[in-house]
Amino acid sequence: MARASAGNVARVDIPGIDPTRIPVHIACVMDGNGRWAQRRGLKRTEGHAAGEEALFDTVEGALDLGVKWLTVYAFSTENWRRPKDEVRYLMGFNESLLVRRRDELNDRDVRMRFIGRRDWRVPKRLLRRMDESVELTRDNGTLTLTIAFNYGGRAEIVDAVKQLVAEGVPVDKIDEKTISKRMYDPEMPDPDLWVRTSGEYRTSNFLMWEAAYSELVFTDTLWPDFRREHLFDAVREYQDRDRRFGGLADD
Ligand code: IPE
Ligand code: IPE
Ligand code: MG
Repeated sequence: MARASAGNVARVDIPGIDPTRIPVHIACVMDGNGRWAQRRGLKRTEGHAAGEEALFDTVEGALDLGVKWLTVYAFSTENWRRPKDEVRYLMGFNESLLVRRRDELNDRDVRMRFIGRRDWRVPKRLLRRMDESVELTRDNGTLTLTIAFNYGGRAEIVDAVKQLVAEGVPVDKIDEKTISKRMYDPEMPDPDLWVRTSGEYRTSNFLMWEAAYSELVFTDTLWPDFRREHLFDAVREYQDRDRRFGGLADD
């Protein structure tokens, strides 16, 4: 019997995965593009380009699984520290990706959203493509693909605090709910499963507030090599975990 709380069930039969305990929201740090390229004697930017296929196969994997929310870290508030050429490449690459692939996502009934700061450093053209993509896919309901761009978990909390102060919310009205409601996408549920590729064991500021009780899975696979099968592996690991949320195991 399906658990009411899970709310979603796998659409495809995947060996070793319990279709009734699929995470509602998977978050993913797409890391390792530069190292993937360097190992092949290519430029770092070619690693970013190769990450596109990984992203779209991961989206297909999320659709197979019946995941409702997939959030990917595409550019952090700290990534401005990279060389100018790489930053410029990433801006152009993300813009072109949206233009080239948004119709396909729309056809797959994927709703696109973005979280992050819309500050002056993000090219206007890219912001426009983001807005168009959100508008194009706004009524889709199978999967919400959220792209974290110029995103930082601490920046998000800072922005929420600023909003609370600007609204004049009284101190005794401030609790976790009032803060959650002021995150970049208040509709987004907290991630159940949080994945990082490339063998780095840190959060790098991704979903600091929301991932408080996420199950963390780290894999050595470099992002450009990541495919839906790796996502399925992460879900298998997730299903082996015992989520307690500070309570006791209920068996
Ligand atoms: C992740 O790959 C993509 C972005 C941060 C934009 P990296 O570019 O961080 O690749 P590595 O970690 O240097 O290999
Ligand atoms: C995190 O990866 C950001 C993205 C994947 C977009 P980084 O490569 O920027 O993180 P650090 O610098 O290794 O912590
Ligand atoms: Mg990296």
